[in-house]
Amino acid sequence: MTWAHACGKVILCGEHAVVYGRPAIAIPVTEVQAQAYVEAGPAGQGALVIAPDLDRRVVVRAAPDDDPLAHIVRGVLKAIGQGQDPDLTITVTSTIPIARGMGSGTAVSTAIVRALARHFDHWLSSQAISDLVYQTEVLYHGTPSGIDNTVIAFEKPVYFVKGVTREVFWVGRPFLLAVADTGIASPTREVVGDLRRRYQADPTRYEPLFDRIGEIAMAARSAIAQGQTSELGRLMDENHALLQEIGVSCPELDRLVAAARQAGALGAKLSGAGWGGNMIALITEETRGSVDMLLRLAGAVRVIITQVR
Ligand code: MEV
Repeated sequence: MTWAHACGKVILCGEHAVVYGRPAIAIPVTEVQAQAYVEAGPAGQGALVIAPDLDRRVVVRAAPDDDPLAHIVRGVLKAIGQGQDPDLTITVTSTIPIARGMGSGTAVSTAIVRALARHFDHWLSSQAISDLVYQTEVLYHGTPSGIDNTVIAFEKPVYFVKGVTREVFWVGRPFLLAVADTGIASPTREVVGDLRRRYQADPTRYEPLFDRIGEIAMAARSAIAQGQTSELGRLMDENHALLQEIGVSCPELDRLVAAARQAGALGAKLSGAGWGGNMIALITEETRGSVDMLLRLAGAVRVIITQVR
């Protein structure tokens, strides 16, 4: 049996504006992971994907073109020259909360690509893995920027501009993030699509807001490189206000953001597509206990603490 894993992720700043060509920063979250196990299957079975957490069993050759699990398996088998439906059983498990902006689907695809490549002794670069996963991201999300597949494939903090650059960058001083779950699914495709319709109806309203979000991502990158943690917190607060303004927050996210700040977080914002999902708070060893407690009192169903380095 061959296996591989892939981490989760959060967007530190720049979500949504990144779809419109502005920079954004994403961070890997290694505390949660997807795993894929590959073993030979009975003769004639072809490729079969079993995903107990999703209650899914997918016979790849019989699955529709737009089935994401079948799509990624077909894509990687073709890319590594094994396109003739080999007899394989691929089992997928994950501890990444689903539909919370933590890249659960992206991580499952990435783990499948890595495990299949390893099974056939085929080396793929992180960029090649990211590119393959991107093809399936389009099925999930419609018009993804590509930041999720990039950060998960590279498993390092990335500064990303769609179609222009992806840079793994230097973290001057490690910092802690609390990732708190509203318990509400974040419908990425719908939120991105709704914002697109509003943007198309009134681009002059949204362009300056996207510009400012992009400037925040640039400033956050240099604050991180220089170890200016308080400045990063200020930028996260401003980014959240802009995300409220573009209509992607919700009362539950705003409540968690307020609770984290009240508990002493240096900054807090929603993370990912919004309308639910997760928020992130910049914390220290001193504030982690109080932030964790107030977030739970304010309705968080889960709090994950991750160190960014
Ligand atoms: C999703 O993690 C981040 C969004 O900016 C969408 C994207 O970049 O594809 C909302």
